[in-house]
Parts: sequence; C-alpha cells; structure tokens
Amino acid sequence: MSTAIIVTDVIPHTLDSRKPETHISNPIIQIKRLTRIIATPTHRVDILRGIDLEIPRGQFVAIMGPSGSGKSTLLGLLAGLDNATDGQILLDDVDITRLSEDAMAEVRGRKIGFVFQSFQLIPTLTAEENVLLPAELAGAGPEVTGRARELLTRVGLADRLDHYPVQLSGGEQQRVALARAFITRPPILFADEPTGNLDGKTGQQVLELLLELNRLEGATLVLVTHDPALAAHADRVITLRDGLVVTDQMNTDQMNGPR
Ligand SMILES: Nc1ncnc2c1ncn2[C@@H]1O[C@H](COP(=O)(O)OP(=O)(O)O)[C@@H](O)[C@H]1O
Ligand SMILES: [Mg+2]
Repeated sequence: MSTAIIVTDVIPHTLDSRKPETHISNPIIQIKRLTRIIATPTHRVDILRGIDLEIPRGQFVAIMGPSGSGKSTLLGLLAGLDNATDGQILLDDVDITRLSEDAMAEVRGRKIGFVFQSFQLIPTLTAEENVLLPAELAGAGPEVTGRARELLTRVGLADRLDHYPVQLSGGEQQRVALARAFITRPPILFADEPTGNLDGKTGQQVLELLLELNRLEGATLVLVTHDPALAAHADRVITLRDGLVVTDQMNTDQMNGPR
C-alpha cells in the first residue's frame, strides 16, 4: 500500500483498489442534478428534486433543514446506500450512480465512513469486533487490531473492548460507532444526526469526540444536524427544503481560525 504507483488514464480504474488519488485538486464530492423520486402506482414522492453541489476535499459541511426535507436521503445516496432516480454523484471523480453493488461496496470500504443516528452496531459482535468489521471487509490483516484499540481508547472505551452493544449505554454505543467510522481512515465521513438519540450532555460529548477525531484524521465531513450552535463550527452550512438546496453559506469566521 505504501508504494506510490503512477497511474494514468490508460489503466482501467474499476478493479485496482490500490489506485492512488489522481485528481487531488477536484472536489471530492460532486453532485449533479440529483433526484430521488419514490413512485408507487397510486403515489409519487419527489424527495430530492435536483441537487447540485460541489464539496472540496477536507471541508466540514453542516446540512440543515426541516424534518422531511431530504437530508437523510441525500446522505444515503452519497454513501451508496440508496439509488438515485436521476443525476450523478462523483466521489473522487468516480460516478457511484453507475457502479455495481460489489464495486460500490469497495468504494464504501475505501472512501466512506458513516455515523448513523441509531448507532447501527451489530449486536452479536463486541465493541472491538464492531470497529474491526469495516477494515476486515476491506481486506485488512491482523495489524488493524492495534488501530481499533487505539480508536476505542481515544473515545474513552479502552475498558469496554469485549462488551456487546446491549451492555453499553447509548453514548458508549455511538462512541463505538465513531471508532468504527474512522477505522479505515476514510477520506469522507457522513454523519446523520449522530446525537439525535442521545441526551444533551452525552450528545455534546459524542460531538466533541467526532470533531476531534475528524481534526486528527482530516476527513471531509458532511454532518446533518438540527443544532445551529454545531453548524456554526462548520466551514459551510447548506439548508435543504422540500428536496432542494435553499441556502448554501460559508462560515467566514471559521475560515481563518481553528474549528
Ligand atoms: N422509502 C420511502 N418511501 C416513501 N417516502 C420516503 C421514503 N424515504 C423517505 N421518504 C420521504 O421523503 C422525505 C424526505 O425524507 P428524509 O430524507 O428522511 O428527510 P430528513 O432526513 O430531512 O428528515 C420525507 O417526506 C419522507 O417521508
Ligand atoms: Mg433524517
């Protein structure tokens, strides 16, 4: 993995999982006329109605908007967990709307971390095993165990490695989920209301950990939140309403200072 290989466009980029990043200056996420419509014989819901966005590498973007405006649908599409009706999503110049399930799973394993509102830990695996799972699926060897323990230590769970999710509080489960999201060193992290199921104080601690880990790991962070105070920490705040982007603002006071 450490050997730099110069890859040019003559090499097909579908199969070689070790392809280095070739377009460093391009936005890491490009969204073009993205629509998601759910239609049944009697009913049609236009969930996303044509979203255009570009997100540069390393940016911290907060997504806001009322319940039902399409925030979770957007994140699910960006992470390849759902299929677009029309439009394009490019992650590092790869159009993920055209990928097979297997190819998408590979992109997810290499590029994406996800923190869900409802934790989504696997109940039959311990904290450590939950954290290790994405790395194992991506083909990592036993050397990744050290990193899993390091991440669990960083989120304050060094003494909970062998606990199962049911033996952990909500805040602890979400801290395991944070460690899991970062295990593969993903360049992109999506978080969908990661504190929505936690009480205020616990939620605050989880958020601080998330932002701290992200500062250390340097991922591009796209975070759905209802909390204006949190959005104030972001580089950029995008508001959705009825499946469209209605505002898209840079937090200029964040651009020069630490966040
Ligand atoms: N599978 C689905 N079938 C029908 N409607 C859906 C489905 N998923 C989401 N919706 C609808 O799409 C809209 C946007 O949902 P969602 O993306 O979850 O919004 P948000 O996360 O902003 O609250 C809502 O009106 C929701 O009811
Ligand atoms: Mg939602």
